[in-house]
Amino acid sequence: NNSVNILAIETSCDETAAAVIADGKVILSNVVSSQIKTHQQYGGVVPEIASRKHVESITYIVEQALEKANVSLQDLSAVAVTQGPGLVGSLLVGLVAAKGLACAAELPFIGVHHIAGHIYANELEHTLQYPLIALVVSGGHTELVYMKERGSFEIIGQTRDDAVGEAYDKVARALSLPYPGGPHIDRMAGDADGTIHLPRAWLEPDSYDFSFSGLKSAVLSVLNQAKMKGTDLNPAHLAHGFQDSVIDVLSEKALKAVRQYGAKQLLLAGGVAANRGLRQQLSAKCEEQGIPLLYPSMSLCTDNAAMIGAAAFLKWEKQQFSSLDLKAEPLLSL
Ligand code: KG4
Ligand code: ZN
Repeated sequence: NNSVNILAIETSCDETAAAVIADGKVILSNVVSSQIKTHQQYGGVVPEIASRKHVESITYIVEQALEKANVSLQDLSAVAVTQGPGLVGSLLVGLVAAKGLACAAELPFIGVHHIAGHIYANELEHTLQYPLIALVVSGGHTELVYMKERGSFEIIGQTRDDAVGEAYDKVARALSLPYPGGPHIDRMAGDADGTIHLPRAWLEPDSYDFSFSGLKSAVLSVLNQAKMKGTDLNPAHLAHGFQDSVIDVLSEKALKAVRQYGAKQLLLAGGVAANRGLRQQLSAKCEEQGIPLLYPSMSLCTDNAAMIGAAAFLKWEKQQFSSLDLKAEPLLSL
């Protein structure tokens, strides 16, 4: 068996995940254990609890990933792990597990950037063509990334306040929806039979930056006013108006970047890339303008280790290995 098998581990937030990826492309296994149920009662991720849960699950999840892939440690070419960004206590659990395995099995060790992982999730299912623009939208990130070639990243725009997913989760909380609220708002907006128009934060005309905290405040103020006046408010209409504003700004800026940078493709990445409204509206606009749009399957959009294995393969090709004293970097830049 000559394939390059990478065992990848991801524990940057609230999913304990491990996967085995062959040749950067074939998913031999992809195991994700979500802590959502645990954190739901607190309305968001509690970092200390997340770390403890990772410690409890990591060994079992790694065992599952190896078992499902039907490989043993001897069949591996490297062990990869998310180095950052993320919650430091959570990252440390994955790092220590990966280091231990790499050390014991005498395998190369590869630290991976979480966002590179989200982006390269697309490589598991598509052929990427450069230059391209990636729109990274998750609970912690909102970035427009220009990729001149494979492995090169230039952030041309990012959020100045809340990440998109964060705004989704905060708005959902205000509407008394469970954490994480993104998928609930998505569903409500999709089923809505009306809307409430909300402002768009375009920022300066030449800026690729984003801002979502004003939109979130607008939602809260509509809710408060309805409460004070005792008027009926259809939450689905509010969800629709919120999502409409988000999608409008995201797609407008992403498409502008594609044109300005002469990109051959537009890539969606990150948890919010699972948003059905965003996928549909962006698909329609891209088709209109003849721009190929790629996005990962739903299960590869939210945090998983397969994407970390895909990103690690690039480093494996260049034999860019990390040393065993690699540190967790909660604010690692791309
Ligand atoms: O990538 P991810 O799993 O974790 C981070 O790296 O942050 O993204 C999680 C975020 C959460 O904020 C969640 O509400 C959001 O992605 N999300 C969605 C949808 N599915 C997940 N937001 C909007 N619509 C969805 N369908
Ligand atoms: Zn993520």
